Order: sequence, then C-alpha cells, then structure tokens
Amino acid sequence: LRFLILRNDGSPLACERLLELKNIFGKQLPKMGKQYIARLVFDRQHESLAAIYAGEVVGGITYRPHPSQAFAEVVFCAVSAEQQVRGYGARIMNQLMERLKRQGITHLLTYADNHAIGYFRKQGFNKQVTMKRERWHGYIKDYDGATLMEFIIDPRIDYLS
Ligand code: ACO
Repeated sequence: LRFLILRNDGSPLACERLLELKNIFGKQLPKMGKQYIARLVFDRQHESLAAIYAGEVVGGITYRPHPSQAFAEVVFCAVSAEQQVRGYGARIMNQLMERLKRQGITHLLTYADNHAIGYFRKQGFNKQVTMKRERWHGYIKDYDGATLMEFIIDPRIDYLS
C-alpha cells in the first residue's frame, strides 16, 4: 500500500486519482449523494489522502484542515468493497493522523455514520468532544443522523510505528 496526498491543483494526475476516490465514496456512502461528494472532493479547501494498491486507489479520506483552529474535519472515509476488513482503513487513518500531527493539528472531528461508529472508536475517536465549541462550531457542517466524534492527536505518539 502506498499513500498520496491529493489536492485539486488542476493537474491531470491529481484529478484522475481524485476521480477514483470519488467513485469509491459514491459507492460506499450512497446516502451522501454523488454530486455532493464530487463537490467536496474537488473543492480546493479540501485535501484527500488516497491509498494505492496495485496501481489503483483502494480507499482514502477526504478532509478539511482548519489550521487557524488547529483541527481538521474528516469529511469522507471509505475503502472499496473488495478491499475492506484487511486493515487498510486503519492504516489510512494512521497516515492521516501522523501527517496532520506534523502540521500542528491537534484534533480531528468527524460526523460518523451510525454504522461506522465502531470503526472510528477502534481508531481512537470518542463521542465526547473536549474541544471548546467556539473552536469548531461554524467551521464544520452538521449532518443529520450522524454522530460527532473527536480524536485528540498526541504529539508524542508516532502513529506509523
Ligand atoms: N464497526 C465496528 N468495527 C469496525 C467497523 C465497523 N463498521 N469497520 C471496521 N471495524 C474495525 C475492524 O474490526 C478493525 O478492528 P481490529 O483492528 O480490532 O481488527 C478496525 O476497525 C480496522 O478495520 P479495517 O480493516 O482497517 O477497516 P476497513 O479497511 O474495512 O475500513 C471502513 C473501514 C472505512 C469503515 C470501511 O468499512 C468502509 O468503507 N465502509 C463503508 C463506508 C463508511 O461507512 N465510511 C464511514 C462513513 S462516516 C464518514 O465518512 C465521516
């Protein structure tokens, strides 16, 4: 597995990889709506971390960093159906944690789908949000039927070890 950070910088390579990732999200997150997913994946304030296996994108996370608030929102997270339950979802999240840690991000927030709460909990996310509300409210959008969860990044931890 290798990992790529992708932004919609107009380059054909990034666009191609983002398109692959968008298609995985479209299949794995049917409730989100394909147009909504496409808009955020290609939005220039969002970034994505893609996992590549045998030359193909097999999963990833689209996230929005808020450097002024030192937190990032995990917007979409999925692994393709054929590649689930192999530990890729955990490795993708660990890659994201390590990279954001090095950028001075201290917290992650996500609105977890109810069936994905178990996955996020395994990655260390918690339903108790400890960040002060002013720090994140208005920076991330509300989702109906999803549970807000927080991960606190520990600067002493190497998330890749
Ligand atoms: N419930 C409980 N535990 C889970 C779940 C779940 N739904 N999914 C994974 N886990 C656990 C695994 O058992 C594993 O535990 P272990 O370390 O003790 O073995 C650990 O989490 C990591 O599992 P992986 O194999 O790394 O997970 P996978 O590669 O299958 O990816 C993911 C997990 C991303 C949730 C995948 O199942 C998926 O794409 N699901 C559909 C899309 C989805 O629901 N995405 C999240 C929506 S919310 C959002 O995007 C903000």
